[in-house]
Order: sequence, then C-alpha cells, then structure tokens
Amino acid sequence: MEALGEVGVTQRDRLEELDALREASKTGGGEARIAQQRARGKLTARDRIELLMDPGSFAEFDAFVVHRSSDFGMADERYLGDGVVTGHGTIGGRLVFVFSQDFTVFGGSLSEAHAEKICKMMDLAMKVGAPVVGMNDSGGARIQEGVVSLGGYADIFLRNTLASGVIPQLSLILGPCAGGAVYSPAITDVTIMVQGTSYMFVTGPDVVRAVTHEDVDRERLGGGITHTTISGVAHIAAADEAEAIDYARRILAFLPQNNLEDPPFVGSDDPVDRADIALDAVIPDEPSQPYDMHLVIRGIVDDGAFLELQPAWAGNILVGFARVGGRSIGVVAQQPAVLAGALDIDASDKAARFVRFCDCFNVPLLTLVDVPGFLPGVAQEHGGIIRHGAKLLYAYCEATVPKITVITRKAYGGAYDVMSSKHIRGDVNLAWPSAQIAVMGVEGAVNIIFRDRIDEADDRDAERRRLTEEYETRFANPYVAAGRGYVDDVIRPSETRSRVAAALAMLSTKRERNPAKKHGNMPL
Ligand code: HXC
Repeated sequence: MEALGEVGVTQRDRLEELDALREASKTGGGEARIAQQRARGKLTARDRIELLMDPGSFAEFDAFVVHRSSDFGMADERYLGDGVVTGHGTIGGRLVFVFSQDFTVFGGSLSEAHAEKICKMMDLAMKVGAPVVGMNDSGGARIQEGVVSLGGYADIFLRNTLASGVIPQLSLILGPCAGGAVYSPAITDVTIMVQGTSYMFVTGPDVVRAVTHEDVDRERLGGGITHTTISGVAHIAAADEAEAIDYARRILAFLPQNNLEDPPFVGSDDPVDRADIALDAVIPDEPSQPYDMHLVIRGIVDDGAFLELQPAWAGNILVGFARVGGRSIGVVAQQPAVLAGALDIDASDKAARFVRFCDCFNVPLLTLVDVPGFLPGVAQEHGGIIRHGAKLLYAYCEATVPKITVITRKAYGGAYDVMSSKHIRGDVNLAWPSAQIAVMGVEGAVNIIFRDRIDEADDRDAERRRLTEEYETRFANPYVAAGRGYVDDVIRPSETRSRVAAALAMLSTKRERNPAKKHGNMPL
C-alpha cells in the first residue's frame, strides 16, 4: 500500500485514492484464487458477510491492515486485509460483530495481524455487549510466521473463553479448520458446518495414516456429517453455505445481545390458549411403546416452530429453541422413539451443555420428561456415565433461569431427580395423567421387592400380575408426587401450551442467585 505524497495532491486525488484502495481491498488474493474458491462450491469471505448481515448494514474495520512478515519472500506478497474481513453490522436490526476468513489470501491462514483484527472485533463486542459470528475458512497458523501466529491463536482462545457466557458466540465452519484452530469454535456456543466443503480435525488424514495406520479421508474424519452424528462437535451440518448462514441468523433471534439482557420478544398469531387436542392421545396405552416427542414440542410452542440443535447426535434427547407466547425458551426433551429416551453419556453431555447455554443467556428452560433411567451397560459404566450424567445434574441444579418441567410419562430413578425436578429448583413442575414417577419401572420393581412372595406362590404368574397391579396403583401415576407437592399440578396434555405460557409470564421477573464463589467445580 503506497499512499499519495502531499505535494500538489488535491482532495479529489485523495478521494480517488481511497476509492481505489477500498476496491483493491475487496479483491482478496486475486481474481484467479476467487475463481478457484467458487469452483470449489464455496462463497467468498465478503459474499458470506453479505448473506449474514442485514443489507447495507456492514461496516468494515481494518481493511488496510497487512501482514508484517518479511521471511520466506513474504515482503513481496501483501494483501489488504491480510486474509480476514472484520467489522460489524446488524442481523434482524440488532448489532452483531463478524470476522470472515478469506481463503484466497494465504489460504485464510492466521498471521499476527490477522489475529489482531479478530481480537479487536471480539474486544469491541465485549465492550458493547453484542454477539460475535466467526466464519472459519483457514489453513491454520500462517506457517511463515511461526510462533507469532500460534500466539495469535492463543489471543483468540483467551477472548473466546472470557466472552463465554457474556456474549453469544457462533462459529461457522465453511472450509478447512484444522490443528489447534479447532479450539476456537469448540469454545463458542454453537458450531455450524457445511456438508462436503468444511472439515475440522486436530490432525488430518496424512498424520492419522502415519501414526495409527488408519486410512480415512477428510470428510469421514472430520466433515459435517461426522461431527453432527458421531462426535457431537458441531450442532448443525447445513446443506450449503446459505443454509448455514441462515441457521446463524435464526439462532441469534432467540438470544439476547448479552448476559445482562433478556431474549427478544417475538409475537405470533398463535393464541397462547390454543389447545392441541391431539396431545391428549399422543401417549400410547402400552407403556413401552414409543412416540415422537417432536409432536409434543410442536403442539406446545408458537406456530409449531422448533429450531433443533444437534438433531442427529444423541437422538434420545432433543434440545433446541422455540417460543411460547412470544418468549424464547430452550427445550430439553427425552425422545422415547430413540433408546426409549434413556439418558446415556452423549445425551447427558448434549443436554448439559445446552442447559448451561440457556442459563447463561437468560433463556427459560422447558423440560419434557419421559425417561426410563440411565442407560445400563458395561460400555456406559466404563465410559463414565457417572461422570457424564453428573454434568447434566450439575447443570440443572446450577441453572437459575425459569425452569418449567412437564412429565409426560416415565420419570424413573435418578433420572427423575436430574430432569429439572422440583427438588433441584424446578419452578413449575407439571405432570400429565400418564406420568409414572417411581424408583424404577413396574416390572423391575416387582421382581426385586416381591421376589420371595412370587417364588412362594402356587400360581406365580397370577401372583406377579396381582402384585404388578398393586404396585401400578400405588406408584405408576403422578398423584403420589402431586400429593407431596413434587409436581404442582396434573394437567390434560392439551392444556400444556396455555399452562407453560402462564408459567413463563409468571416467572418473567424471577430472581435467583447461587452462592458467591469464584466458580463451581463442575464434573467435566
Ligand atoms: C500459509 C498457507 C497455509 C498456512 C495454506 N496456505 N495453508 N499459507 N500458512 N497454514 C496457502 C497455500 O500455500 C496456497 O497458497 C493457498 O494457501 C491455498 O492452499 P492449497 O494447499 O492450494 O489449498 P488446498 O489444496 O485446498 O488445501 C488446503 C489445506 C492445505 C488442506 C488447508 O493448504 C494445508 O494442508 N495447509 C496447511 C495446514 C496446516 O498444517 N496448518 C498448520 C496447522 S497447525 P497459494 O499461494 O498457492 O495460493 C495450526 C496450529 C494452530 O494451525 C495453533 C493453535 C494452538
């Protein structure tokens, strides 16, 4: 970048120079590389910002920044902006900061200057209390800069961590994201990938082959499908970049700008007293028969609209955002159609993180319970279900947002306690008449406590049937819990929407604090 000298320069010259520099800053690594980027089915860093922000709202920062390295011939190759476009704009009229890595400049690799630009945005976002959306498309640390570039990553990780729970942070993975670079998205609240063109891994296929002799390609090792079905690293695998960006816009619409605000109210024409009569018939008569909890969620929330996160990973629990009566809620719900809704390691991790996400951003929680317990098995025990299940328990215990719980069917054993029960500060706990709240399922319970009586009976089957009925009458219903006030009311399923709406309105001024401490020692 060579600026005009002072002698004989007119104001018009200066303006023309500015226009020329601005134009140059928009060309990234040049037309050929932009064409290559498009040929790979990827948008440019600026196309992505256009799609993300409200039209005309983007204000760029640091377009004139260039790298400072002169090693390995770098002095002769400098590009305005140094491989990342940063700035702020609005999404749905609300302020958002963004950085968008430009793969056409040194493969979007992160130099000292590139990292400083990102950090500047994050610092500003923290000062004014607004979300950050990071669009990642990068070959990682700028190899020519060595440790300076590693330092740049650490500067970003620190800011990601300090901003966690203060401002929402969303990561879009729109190309490579490898090595230590993956840990920035991993700290942020939501990671959205694109199928086929994005990947995340700590070490790529070549290193894997050399070290473990496993033969795997990029997509299978760390593509969007892998991370949203097997590892749980990412929340969404979008079909294309436009869809990924649209997800980011929609997720932000449920969240406040920062931890000191409430989520925005978004009115709807869906009456809060709408009774979904279909819910009265959703629970099968046979207790072991599954049903789709999505039907229940849709029957309760505004316009049936549920933005599900991690839909294809740990499907035995559902998490996502919705609204009731215009108020944002985070929904956590067992899915009886997968593993009978049992809590396993992945489901515990998935739900625990989501509960904490909602709690730090003042999003009330609606928990729909149909849980036969924690999943038994050697793999689960040896995998640490105790440690992982404890995360979910801890997250619910710690959460101070309004907590509304509806037990639709089973609430057995420790899982009853965990799933936002009254005992761990559930604010409004409701049960459907089909609820069964007990230490364990009828069959298991009868076999344990009445084993001798069954063994000694002349007609064992008849005795087992009689004792089963006795047990069912005593425990397999919501009224014992309701009689103790552990559930506040037993309601018709079709009333659920209006009762949740009323509870949210009642709880809108809820104030609750945990004891002062540096931070708890959450089981991780
Ligand atoms: C400098 C880089 C670069 C890098 C790519 N480029 N990665 N320049 N530093 N890290 C440049 C290439 O030289 C090339 O320049 C252009 O970007 C495009 O790269 P290609 O290789 O042509 O693209 P492609 O075939 O799509 O492969 C993309 C890629 C590959 C898979 C990302 O470039 C790659 O493997 N890069 C190195 C990845 C890596 O090992 N990074 C360090 C990881 S460790 P020209 O001029 O030809 O266009 C790390 C530590 C983080 O990041 C620390 C945190 C703790």
